[in-house]
Amino acid sequence: MAPGRLSFSNITALAPMVRVGTLPMRLLALDYGAEVVYCEELIDIKMVQCQRVVNDVLQTVDFVAPDDRVMFRTCDREKDSVVFQMGTADPDRALAVAQLVEKDVAAIDVNMGCPKEYSTKGGMGAALLSEPDKIESILRKLVTGVSVPVTCKIRILPSLEETVSLVQRIEKTGVAAVAVHGRFKEERPRHPVHCDYIEAVAQAVSVPIIANGGSLDLVKTNSDIEEFRKATGASSVMLGRAAMWNASVFRNQGPLPVERVMEEYLKYAIRYDNHAFNTKYCLCQMLRDKVESPLGKQVQAAQTNAEISNAYGLQQFYQQTQEQLQARRDALQSSSQPERPVTDGDVTAMAVKFERREYPPHITPKMFLLEWSRKKKLEQPLYETVQRSQDRAFQSTVVVAEKKYRSSLWEKSKKFAEQAAAIVCLRVLGIPEGRIGEEDSGLVCKRKREGKVNGAADEERSKKRHVAKTGREAETSTAAAAANGDQREADAPR
Ligand SMILES: Cc1cc2nc3c(=O)[nH]c(=O)nc-3n(C[C@H](O)[C@H](O)[C@H](O)COP(=O)(O)O)c2cc1C
Repeated sequence: MAPGRLSFSNITALAPMVRVGTLPMRLLALDYGAEVVYCEELIDIKMVQCQRVVNDVLQTVDFVAPDDRVMFRTCDREKDSVVFQMGTADPDRALAVAQLVEKDVAAIDVNMGCPKEYSTKGGMGAALLSEPDKIESILRKLVTGVSVPVTCKIRILPSLEETVSLVQRIEKTGVAAVAVHGRFKEERPRHPVHCDYIEAVAQAVSVPIIANGGSLDLVKTNSDIEEFRKATGASSVMLGRAAMWNASVFRNQGPLPVERVMEEYLKYAIRYDNHAFNTKYCLCQMLRDKVESPLGKQVQAAQTNAEISNAYGLQQFYQQTQEQLQARRDALQSSSQPERPVTDGDVTAMAVKFERREYPPHITPKMFLLEWSRKKKLEQPLYETVQRSQDRAFQSTVVVAEKKYRSSLWEKSKKFAEQAAAIVCLRVLGIPEGRIGEEDSGLVCKRKREGKVNGAADEERSKKRHVAKTGREAETSTAAAAANGDQREADAPR
């Protein structure tokens, strides 16, 4: 084995699990002692369209779909332990995906065990089990085409002989390991696992076999992992549900209370800006029969990671993390953006941030821009805001007298992004913006400056005109999330 290559001998692994095996869960499993962590299965057709994006704010590498969804997020910490699992039925596409991610992962795995219709009808998952020629061509193509180890995960075939002969054929392709889920493809997760099949395979080949399927009745604690390994004669063990319910099953010092595990999971979800729907899903799996408890109900009702943090009393951690991420975003932006106006297409842009403390309590640049537009008998300023997927930061463009202005710096909230756009417009046009210490321009009357009349309401009215636009954006991102959820929703344990 080449030095530095991930070994699959004598390891304990987090199983690939759709929706569960995203970055926070993988990091948690590593913290608790898993040596190898599989990501959720990602379908080749979707992955092949992704772009690799280095996310300097989160310090991650993201694979982003054309609709801006982050399909796969990884980071340095797991680089030597993460296995990228794909769903595929096409050797060329499989290779294209493997080559896209190979620099950022420790190994590539092909899912040959998923019995769900959406997988099998595309010839993927368990459908491959009856197509050994295709299995061979996919695996050979991957083994020769990428520099990292290649593995696959199968279910057992109707007889011992067929199962053994398939794995012997797979071994010849040069894979680094085979994970064997000891159930037939028709069997459900509640059926007992067939350790004898795994054992027969382990005896017949020299490639490391990873035993899987023991969560329900065999592996309850860390010491049971060794028992499962012995019962199957396998080199290694892979845990799915036992880890999903309480990832501290990997700790050889003993398990932790699930409350503590949920808290540590949530901290990773916040730190890595995990999608709130995904965070909720994983926490609900950990809550199990407590999902209808007051805490469970609060988690289910939450729509954002901030709301989930409130449910767990982690508001302060959430706030501090947001501040740290914003500070990193600011530092990155200020080192790369010019402070003088530049033309970007039909937009005039400047690197400007809205600092609340630079303005009196009742004054904002938007207010000044609104008053100025009124005095000039112009249309009210029109704000359009976009949110980017990699860190959910906002950028606004304001249209004033048919010209567009925006800050090139991204802000943590829509409100701040609009204020930054207003500042750019005011500075480019040489209009006072209401900062503390600025000479009184008389643009906003004294009563408004002191907050005695409804300057804020004026702004609110101006905002309402644009609600339709920004509302549409919000809907788009919710729809994208729901689409993500939909695909995942279909996924009961496999
Ligand atoms: C929520 C969930 C999602 C799953 N998603 C995948 C997947 O993406 N790829 C895969 O090969 N198996 C998937 N499985 C199957 C598991 O990897 C594993 O084979 C199965 O749960 C049996 O192992 P266990 O008894 O340790 O849970 C999933 C299982 C669960 C519970």
